[in-house]
Amino acid sequence: MGTGNDSSGNVQTEAARRRQYRGVTDDEKPSEDTRETDHYKAQYVMGFVNKWDELIDWDARAESEGDFFIEQLRERGVKRVLDVATGTGFHSVRLLEAGFDVVSADGSPHMLAKAFENASRRGHILRTVQADWRFLNRDIHQVFDAVICLGNSFTHLFKERDRRKALAEFYAVCAHDGLLVLDQRNYDSILDDGYSTDHAYYYCGESVKVQPEHVDDGLARFEYAFEDGSKYHLNMFPLRREYTRRLMREVGFQKVHTFGDFEIDFEDSDPDFLVHICEKHYELEESASD
Ligand SMILES: C[S@@+](CC[C@H](N)C(=O)[O-])C[C@H]1O[C@@H](n2cnc3c(N)ncnc32)[C@H](O)[C@@H]1O
Repeated sequence: MGTGNDSSGNVQTEAARRRQYRGVTDDEKPSEDTRETDHYKAQYVMGFVNKWDELIDWDARAESEGDFFIEQLRERGVKRVLDVATGTGFHSVRLLEAGFDVVSADGSPHMLAKAFENASRRGHILRTVQADWRFLNRDIHQVFDAVICLGNSFTHLFKERDRRKALAEFYAVCAHDGLLVLDQRNYDSILDDGYSTDHAYYYCGESVKVQPEHVDDGLARFEYAFEDGSKYHLNMFPLRREYTRRLMREVGFQKVHTFGDFEIDFEDSDPDFLVHICEKHYELEESASD
């Protein structure tokens, strides 16, 4: 794996692969079938879904990200939003409360059930659609001013053809001048410099320890250890920043603005998370792209 079967830039030597194992013996290496796009459904089992909000702590997360997404969407005149990675509903609920018209989609029925419950406790009825990104337009027949795919979700796609298909589906449900807002971990920094974070922005819960159990150019496997002793794992594809931006442009988003921990100016290795804001608006003459 990781030896040039897609164009993600994550080409790797066996030596580099060994170097990136953090105390995992050969026998303990994740099997190849953990590097599968469809694995996300099995990973978000009910136990983990119930723990997810403990992990991300809604109040602390709202405080740390502030009104970044609300302001970015308002500045660009967005009204209708499709949340394609609803998860337990954090952004759907925040955007509803800020007055946006929101439809909440996710491929996992467990996540959607939890999101619906969370929203109704806050007095909202979520409009939910179970839809896999790769077949989004089969299930969603509206267009939106913005599609949001947040919380490091896009990383769940392991094949380049799935990533291209998902982005093309996101592009198609955007209005002619719509936006895609997609975030990811700063995998360049994890791959090149090793993992270090204070979890300031996303995983704000105090009662959980998040750490990579295994990192190579084709797989970042994170362990989530909770205070009660329970442990869960998520397998992710380590998306390099320029690779993600290139795919976005190649499916048709002309301008891609990338923020590091919500700032437009940042040093490459500093931020934990990157947010890409991609514009569908088409200019006949190619101007400076971002
Ligand atoms: C890391 S969670 C993030 C949830 C939420 N956005 C947040 O920030 O808390 C990723 C979500 O993406 C969903 N997901 C992953 N792959 C998917 C796919 N191919 N199609 C639809 N949903 C998918 C998962 O079910 C999960 O709810």
